[in-house]
Amino acid sequence: MTSHRPNFERYQRIAPFYDLLDLPFEYGRYRALRPQLFVGLSGRILDAGVGTGRNLPFYPPGAVVVGIDLSPTMLARAARRRASSRAASVDLCVMDVTRLDFPTASFDAAAATFLFCVLADELQPAALRELVRVVKPGGPIRLLEYVRPRGAVRRFISQLWAPWIAWAYGARFDRRTEAHIREAGLAIASSRYVVPDLIKLIEVRAAP
Ligand SMILES: C[S@@+](CC[C@H](N)C(=O)[O-])C[C@H]1O[C@@H](n2cnc3c(N)ncnc32)[C@H](O)[C@@H]1O
Repeated sequence: MTSHRPNFERYQRIAPFYDLLDLPFEYGRYRALRPQLFVGLSGRILDAGVGTGRNLPFYPPGAVVVGIDLSPTMLARAARRRASSRAASVDLCVMDVTRLDFPTASFDAAAATFLFCVLADELQPAALRELVRVVKPGGPIRLLEYVRPRGAVRRFISQLWAPWIAWAYGARFDRRTEAHIREAGLAIASSRYVVPDLIKLIEVRAAP
């Protein structure tokens, strides 16, 4: 059985340096993408794999947000960002996305940024099932994720980066997230590149 241990240990270890490691990507690319995750969302929102809280400044004003993460040390850093959020409240909990400790249909929406690219393929169906379970029927589940480039140049560049990305973040460019969504019988409401041939914003709808 695939274990969460490697991710837990990795993120506990890199938490103190995570924001520094990620700084060029955050300011070069991610910061402009994050607001798109939360457009039109309101009410109770789950941020799965909240990490050091890079999404906090982009939560919708007045929303009630719960951020979960496997790593308490990443969460401790997210807690420092609370003041940057305009949400009505931001609760942060240690939790595994494949076994969410929330009642069924207890959120209006869920978001996850760069979580599925670090989740082993074997864990992805369970993570998707749990997100769909806790979001109200018809509610959006939005994922911002790296995908395997199709173009030769992008693919070559991503292959150069792959060993570093795998070592530092446990991330891969070739996770089968969209295939897992379809195999789980879930509807992909939309899927579009937000960075050409590299990063997609995928929206899944919890079955009504
Ligand atoms: C690449 S980081 C992304 C963090 C944040 N979402 C962002 O956009 O900056 C992935 C995060 O997912 C968390 N994570 C990995 N496996 C998890 C799991 N099974 N359940 C919850 N969180 C998990 C890690 O601890 C880490 O904080």
